[in-house]
Amino acid sequence: MGRGLVITIATIMLLLIGQASATEGCITCHESMTPGIVADFQNSKMAAAGIECLSCHEGMEGDPSVMDHNGYSITPVVSPKYCEKCHAAEAAQFQDSKHAWTAFIGPLKPWYLAMREEGKDPLSQATAKESNPREYIKRIPTPLFPDSGILTRVGILQREDYNHENQVIGCMQCHGTYVIAEDGEILDGWPNVGVGRVNPDGSLGSCSACHTRHLFSRAEARKPETCGQCHLGPDHPQTEIYEESKHGNMFFSLEDTSFLDEDELTPENIRAPTCAVCHMSAFNGAPATHEVGARLQYELQPAKTVYQWKKPSHVDDIVADRVPDETQAKKNRKEMKTVCNGCHSSNWVNGYFDSFDRIISDYNTVWAYTDDLLQQAYDEGLADKSNPVDEMPETMHYYIWHHDGRRWRMGAAMMAPDWAHWNGAVDATLDKLTFMVNWIEQAREIKASEERITELENKAAEEDKGICGPTAIAAIALFPLGMYRLYKRRN
Ligand code: HEC
Ligand code: HEC
Ligand code: HEC
Ligand code: HEC
Ligand code: HEC
Ligand code: HEC
Ligand code: HEC
Ligand code: HEC
Repeated sequence: MGRGLVITIATIMLLLIGQASATEGCITCHESMTPGIVADFQNSKMAAAGIECLSCHEGMEGDPSVMDHNGYSITPVVSPKYCEKCHAAEAAQFQDSKHAWTAFIGPLKPWYLAMREEGKDPLSQATAKESNPREYIKRIPTPLFPDSGILTRVGILQREDYNHENQVIGCMQCHGTYVIAEDGEILDGWPNVGVGRVNPDGSLGSCSACHTRHLFSRAEARKPETCGQCHLGPDHPQTEIYEESKHGNMFFSLEDTSFLDEDELTPENIRAPTCAVCHMSAFNGAPATHEVGARLQYELQPAKTVYQWKKPSHVDDIVADRVPDETQAKKNRKEMKTVCNGCHSSNWVNGYFDSFDRIISDYNTVWAYTDDLLQQAYDEGLADKSNPVDEMPETMHYYIWHHDGRRWRMGAAMMAPDWAHWNGAVDATLDKLTFMVNWIEQAREIKASEERITELENKAAEEDKGICGPTAIAAIALFPLGMYRLYKRRN
């Protein structure tokens, strides 16, 4: 046996013994302080495979969250970089997904763009310490925070005693915070397991968004409830949609779901797909992926439906500059169909997608009309662009794409007729568009009446007969007449 090899073996043994005793050390304290954490860890497959507390928590060089902890150097922020050591494929796919970038695509976008504009690196802790991202976004009137429009207009958002804190919990618990740390002390953004968390080590995302600590279970992540924590509500009701679909109600009526722990899900061991089966799992020949966009043809969440955006080489590309990629999008559709075809005939699947594609085309037609209508309102001076979400046509325009239009499209994508029609298309048209069209027509009439009155007033002034002149009398008579016509139209 060569000397080098012996030393290597000895070193490994020492490391193992060192780690084993470290884990025992951790457990000695933590089993009384945080018994749930220890129990979960002990029940996890990773503990069974010999993984230690320090396999994940041992601080990496250059990570500003690393602290001294009872003689150990640990981090409380176990970022994807820490999991990557053993799960390179999952970490790489995840890093390539919008899940990982979604703090910057979502609530922190204005800050991200502003920092770029100033030539600073948004991923650097120094930048975040100089300009706190969470504070930065709080006072801007923007459709990203739709409550900001009217709050600005009535003067509440500018008040110092108004914290606008709903933006923090109400965005970042899902999208992720910017975690700021210095010398082992966490200064801001903690705790958080939002799926796009910005970590002190510069990595993006949080694996525990779906694999809760410390069970880190695959079976749990395959359950629809895991995704449902974030994918719900008026603007992206995927959970409600799933619950309404045949797939969802079949799945929820199953009494035994132990098949979720199988190494691979197959058409033989699962009757109805969960979110993960369609979007992530290896199934019927489609490879497993942690890039949840990999099987999508469309971007259904923006105002106008387009093909999935081109995969960026840097998070910049997706925040600032988005290019639809038709070739990739069509490949994604094929992959999704491969999943469906595990359980259905191709006629069944193709027929469904043909109908879905026609829905997308209809939605886009209504959207183009709506968007054009708002532009007309701006051009004609009926609404003011400077605050983008405080006037009736603006709020209707917003609801049509952001709430109703998403339900319409997503309900159709995932087999939920009620969401596609009643909560979607009908709310968008019968409710919001009807209101918007009528509001704009009335605003036009009021504006025309006002212009006519001004014209007559000017004429009266020229005639210099004051309010006794014929033009002035006409102007005075015209005003109530105009109001009466509007009143009749409205009722
Ligand atoms: C001597 C007792 C002791 C030992 C040994 C110990 N811890 Fe802790 N640990 C604590 C206490 C106390 C806390 C704080 C709990 C609280 O604030 O409620 C804590 C907190 C933590 C936190 C959360 C820190 C934060 O800032 O949120 C992590 C992570 C952690 N311990 C991991 C470990 C790991 C990993 C080991 C073994 C390498 C370990 N601990 C060993 C006592 C101990
Ligand atoms: C597979 C990796 C992994 C292992 C192994 C692991 N942890 Fe953790 N731990 C995490 C993650 C992930 C978090 C959540 C923080 C995050 O999202 O970054 C966490 C959080 C914690 C926390 C704070 C959570 C809270 O709710 O207060 C404590 C304490 C902790 N771990 C202790 C331990 C102890 C003790 C062990 C060993 C018995 C251990 N961990 C093993 C990954 C791990
Ligand atoms: C030191 C290596 C190592 C690190 C670090 C590590 N893992 Fe693991 N992980 C493993 C091994 C080994 C297994 C396989 C266990 C088995 O299949 O029996 C595993 C299995 C898993 C599984 C599958 C569990 C199941 O129910 O089938 C998940 C999920 C997982 N790890 C997530 C994570 C996450 C998230 C992190 C970071 C917070 C992480 N791992 C860090 C080694 C590691
Ligand atoms: C309950 C969790 C949750 C909350 C709270 C939440 N979001 Fe989201 N958000 C999501 C999900 C899920 C999507 C994905 C929708 C889709 O693709 O269908 C999303 C999508 C988005 C998008 C579109 C991203 C894209 O790729 O175009 C933006 C922007 C966004 N959210 C911003 C915000 C802001 C700002 C807030 C707070 C005012 C917020 N979100 C609150 C879960 C949430
Ligand atoms: C959006 C939710 C989600 C997030 C976030 C997530 N995972 Fe997973 N993960 C899953 C699902 C679902 C599965 C099961 C996939 C399947 O059925 O094949 C899984 C499976 C795994 C497995 C087991 C793979 C196997 O072959 O059995 C590992 C390891 C894993 N994840 C690691 C990670 C790591 C590391 C991260 C962070 C970089 C992460 N996951 C983030 C949902 C997630
Ligand atoms: C902690 C919150 C959270 C959890 C848990 C979560 N997601 Fe997401 N998901 C989001 C957010 C936020 C977005 C929006 C990303 C963006 O476009 O910026 C998103 C986007 C997506 C997208 C659209 C991706 C794209 O490229 O357009 C899919 C598909 C998706 N999630 C599926 C899942 C599935 C399946 C699960 C469960 C296994 C899951 N998500 C769990 C928050 C979450
Ligand atoms: C039967 C398969 C199936 C199931 C089950 C399923 N989805 Fe989908 N999902 C789809 C299809 C198909 C699309 C649209 C793909 C496209 O763009 O062509 C889609 C689209 C999405 C999108 C993208 C919306 C966007 O903004 O572009 C999200 C997010 C999503 N699903 C999340 C979920 C969640 C969360 C669940 C579970 C609660 C779920 N899905 C269940 C098939 C499924
Ligand atoms: C794991 C198997 C499985 C997968 C994967 C799957 N389905 Fe299904 N699906 C079923 C079963 C089972 C039914 C119920 C059939 C019945 O009504 O007898 C069903 C029902 C349907 C229905 C009828 C819905 C209704 O309300 O009548 C449609 C449409 C459908 N699936 C389309 C799809 C599409 C599109 C995909 C892929 C995006 C897909 N399915 C993926 C198993 C699956």
